[in-house]
Amino acid sequence: AAEYDFVVVSNRLPVDHVVDDDGATSWKASPGGLVTALEPIMRSNDGAWVGWAGRPDLDIAPFDNDGIHIVPVPLSAEDVENYYEGFSNDTLWPLYHDVIAPPTYHREWWESYVAVNQRFADAAAAVSAEGAVVWVQDYQLQLVPKMLRDKRPDLTIGFFNHIPFPPYGIYSQLPWRAAIIEGLLGADVIGFQRVADASNFARAVRRLTTSTTKTTTIEVASPGRATRRVIAKAFPISIDSRSFEELARQPHIQARAREIREGLGNPKTIMLGVDRLDYTKGIGHRLKAYGELLADGRIKVEDVTLVQVASPSRERVQAYMDLRDEIELTVGRINGDFATMSHTAISYHHHGYPREEMAALYLAADIMLVTALRDGMNLVAKEYVAARFDDDGVLILSEFAGASDELKRALRINPHDIDGLKEIILQAISMPKRERAARMRSLRKRVLEYDVSRWSTAFLSALAGVRGDRDTAE
Ligand code: G6P
Repeated sequence: AAEYDFVVVSNRLPVDHVVDDDGATSWKASPGGLVTALEPIMRSNDGAWVGWAGRPDLDIAPFDNDGIHIVPVPLSAEDVENYYEGFSNDTLWPLYHDVIAPPTYHREWWESYVAVNQRFADAAAAVSAEGAVVWVQDYQLQLVPKMLRDKRPDLTIGFFNHIPFPPYGIYSQLPWRAAIIEGLLGADVIGFQRVADASNFARAVRRLTTSTTKTTTIEVASPGRATRRVIAKAFPISIDSRSFEELARQPHIQARAREIREGLGNPKTIMLGVDRLDYTKGIGHRLKAYGELLADGRIKVEDVTLVQVASPSRERVQAYMDLRDEIELTVGRINGDFATMSHTAISYHHHGYPREEMAALYLAADIMLVTALRDGMNLVAKEYVAARFDDDGVLILSEFAGASDELKRALRINPHDIDGLKEIILQAISMPKRERAARMRSLRKRVLEYDVSRWSTAFLSALAGVRGDRDTAE
C-alpha cells in the first residue's frame, strides 16, 4: 500500500460522488467549512485524504484528484443512518450547539459511531508511513485519535474540532461522555475554534478523567505508562483570503455583481444571508427582523431586498426537514405580504453556488447578515470580508459565532434580541460611507493576515513541537 507522511481524516472527502438525473456519475466539491479550509493545505502537502464519498454503499478504490491522494471509506446505508444522520447529526450536532434542537440518544447509534470510527482509524493507519502526521477532523470522528494511537503509537496525531465544544452542564448529558473524552485524548494536539471551547473541554477532562490540566496542557495518566502531554487550545480557522480577494477583483465577477443588482431591480440596499439550511444559523431570526421592519414601515420593499442562499443540508434528518418547512413558509408569507409586481422582498435560493457566483454576490451585497445562534467559526463572514477589496459593505455578525472573537469591528449582535437586530439593520442601512470603509479596512486587515495557511501552520507547528519533545524524552 502507498504510504504517506501527511494524512488528513475527515468524515467527508473534499469531493462528493454524485449521480445526476441521467444516471451519470461525477465528483463535485463537497459542502461546508471544513473542506473549504483544508483543501489548499492538502494541495501544497502532497498528502492523503481519508474520508467518505458522500453516498451509501460505494466501494471506490483510492485515486488521485488534483494533487490529493483520495482514500474513500465506505459507509453502508445503515452506517449513514446510524453513525452519520443519527449519532453525528442528531446527537452530537445539537448537543454541541447548545441544544438549540433537542439531541436524541440511541444506543444503536452509538454502537455504529464506534464501529465506523474504527473503520476510519484502520484506513488511516493503513496509508500512514512510519512516524507520519495524521490530522483528524471534527465531531464525527472523535474516537479516532485513541483508536489510531492504540494501533500506531509511532504516529503524531492531531485533532481539530470545527464546531463548538459545549459547557460541561450541557456536555454531561451525553451517556458516552467519558468515552469521547478518552477518544480525543489519544491526540497530541487538540484544536478548538475559540478559547471558550478549549476551556469547556478542559473542564470536561477534569470532571471525567484522572488527567490534570494546566492552561493549555493536559497531563494524561494511563496505568502502567508514563504520563503523556497533550496540548488543547484555540486555533481559530480561516479561509484562503488572498485567493478569494483575487477572485472578487476579476472584471467578470464585478460585472456579474452589477448584473445581480440589476436583476433584483436595483434596490438601494441588498442584504445577504448565506448558510447551509441549518437550525444553528438563525435564519428564522433574520427573516423575522426583516419582516417586522417591512411591517412597521421602517423600510420599503423597493429599497431593501434580502437575498437568502440556503444550501440543502442533511435532508433526511427530521429537524432539518422541519426547519426547511418553517423557513420556506416564512419566506412565502413575507413575500406574499410585501412583494410588489416589480420587487420581491426575499430572493430565496435552496441550493449552493460555485465560488465565482458567491464572490459576485458578496460584492453585490451592501449588508451581510450572519445571525447564527451558535457556530464554530462561520467562514461565510470571513469570505464576505475577503471579497470586499473595495473597502465597502457592512458585516452584521452574531456574537455566538466563533468569528466574532476576531472580527471586532463588525456590527455585533445577539440574534435572540429581535428589536436589537432590527436597530442594527437600520444602522447598517444608513451607515455613512466613511464609517463603512473604516470598519471594513479593520476587518480586512485581520482576515487577510490570519488566513487558512496561518491556521494550519500554527496547528501543525504545535504538533511538531509535541513530537520534538517526545523524541527528546525517548
Ligand atoms: C460543518 C461541519 C463539517 C461538515 C459540514 C457539512 O461545516 O463542521 O464537518 O462536513 O458542516 O455538513 P455535512 O453533514 O454535509 O458533511
